[in-house]
Amino acid sequence: MKDTKIAKLITAEEKRQREGLELIPSENYVSRDVLTALGSVYTNKYSEGYPGKRYYGGQENTDVVESLAIERAKELFNGDHANVQPHSGAPANIAVYQSWLNLGDTIMAMRLDHGGHLTHGHPVTSSSKAYNFVRYGMKDIETGEIDYDEMRAVALKTRPKIIIAGFSGYTRTLDYDKFAAIGEECGALLMADMAHVAGLIAGKAIENPLDHGFHVLTSTTHKTLRGPRGGLIVSKGIAGNTLKAPDKTIENLPTLIDREVFPGFQGGPHMHTVAAKAVAFREALQPEFQAYAKQIIANAKRLATSLQKKGFKLVTNGTDNHMILIDIPASIKGLNGRDAQETLDAIGLNANCNAIPDDTLPPYRPSGLRLGTPAITTRGLKEEHMDLIAEWMHTALTKHSDEKALAELKNTVTAFSLQFPLPSDI
Ligand SMILES: Cc1ncc(COP(=O)(O)O)c(C=O)c1O
Repeated sequence: MKDTKIAKLITAEEKRQREGLELIPSENYVSRDVLTALGSVYTNKYSEGYPGKRYYGGQENTDVVESLAIERAKELFNGDHANVQPHSGAPANIAVYQSWLNLGDTIMAMRLDHGGHLTHGHPVTSSSKAYNFVRYGMKDIETGEIDYDEMRAVALKTRPKIIIAGFSGYTRTLDYDKFAAIGEECGALLMADMAHVAGLIAGKAIENPLDHGFHVLTSTTHKTLRGPRGGLIVSKGIAGNTLKAPDKTIENLPTLIDREVFPGFQGGPHMHTVAAKAVAFREALQPEFQAYAKQIIANAKRLATSLQKKGFKLVTNGTDNHMILIDIPASIKGLNGRDAQETLDAIGLNANCNAIPDDTLPPYRPSGLRLGTPAITTRGLKEEHMDLIAEWMHTALTKHSDEKALAELKNTVTAFSLQFPLPSDI
C-alpha cells in the first residue's frame, strides 16, 4: 500500500487483534473470504434500486450478487423476503418504523436500562422524537424474567403499532409466543431486533421469532452472524411492485420495507458489503456454523459460572445467550464498569462498560461490564479456556493498581492468544 501511514495502522490493528482476546459481545472476527468480498471492486459500483430494477446500467454481476444474498438470508431465517441493503442495524430499524408507522404512533420496546438498544427510542435519538415509546422490562433482575403481565396491561392500554423484541444488554431468552399473543391482542406488528443474537438463530442454537408469529426481523450482520458491518431485514409477506405505494398490510410488508430502504431514506447500496454479506450467509448455512452457535452459548455459560465462583455478581445471575453483564461495584469494591474496562484493556482482554438495571452511576462511568463469547469462540476457545479468562479477570481487577502484576498478565494473555490465529490469518 502506498499510504504508509494507513498501512502501518492496519498492521498495528492486526497485531492488537491477534495478541488480545475480544470479549465485546457485539464484535467478531470475519473470515478471509468475507474480507476479500469487502475489499473487492464492487465498492466502485452504483446500484440504486433492486435486482432487475436498477437506475444505472452495468448490473449484470451486482444483480446476481444481491439476489444470492437475498436468497441465502431468506433460507437462514425462514423468511418470505429479505432486504440486504441497510447500511447497518440502526437504519434497518428506522426502515421498519417508517414503513409501518405515522409520526406520533406508539412503539413498545424493552426498558433501556434493562437491555433495550438506543434505536428503541433512547431520548437522544431522532426516532424518540418521531414516535411515542412505551416500555416493558424484567419482573425480577435476579432471574431476568420479563414481566409479561405488566407488558400486556401496558400494551392493551397504549395500543402500540409495533412491539419490539430485542436487546443489546439482556442475558436471557425471550418468550416469543407470549410476545405474539400480546401483539395479536392489541393488533401490533411484531418486530424482532435480532442484532445481537442473529448468529445464534441462524445456527439454530436459540428459537427463531419468525417461527413464533413474528412478522419482521431486523439485524446487524457483524455480531454473532460474523459478517461485514451492515444491516438486514427479513420479513413475512409477498414482494410486489415497489413503484406503487401499497396498503399497510402484513402481506405488503416486503414492498413497504423495500420502498422505505430505497428510495425512502438510503441511496445506493454498498455492493461490496452486500457481496460480503452473501459470503457470510453462505458460511452461516454450513453445518459447522450450528456447532459454532452452540459453542458460543456453552462458553458463555461456563464463563458466567467461572466468574461467579471468583465472586463476581452477574445481572440475572447467569446467561442463556452469548452475553454476560457484571455488576462491578457489587463485585470489586471501589471500581466501576469503566475502571474495569480500562484495566482489562491493559492486559489485552477487551470488554465494554455498560449500564445495569437501576444504575446509580452515569452512562459514561456505569456500574456494569458487558462481555461475551462470539469472537473468542471463533478463535477456537472452549469451556476450559473460560476458567483461565475468569482467573485473569479476577487477578487484574483485584490488583488493578499493581502495574507489575498487570504487565505479567498482559504477557500471559498475549502468549495464550497467539496460539489461536485469527480466521483471516488461516
Ligand atoms: C439490538 C441492536 N439493534 C441495533 C443496533 C444498531 O446497529 P448498528 O450499530 O450497526 O447501527 C445494535 C448495535 O449495537 C443493537 O445491539
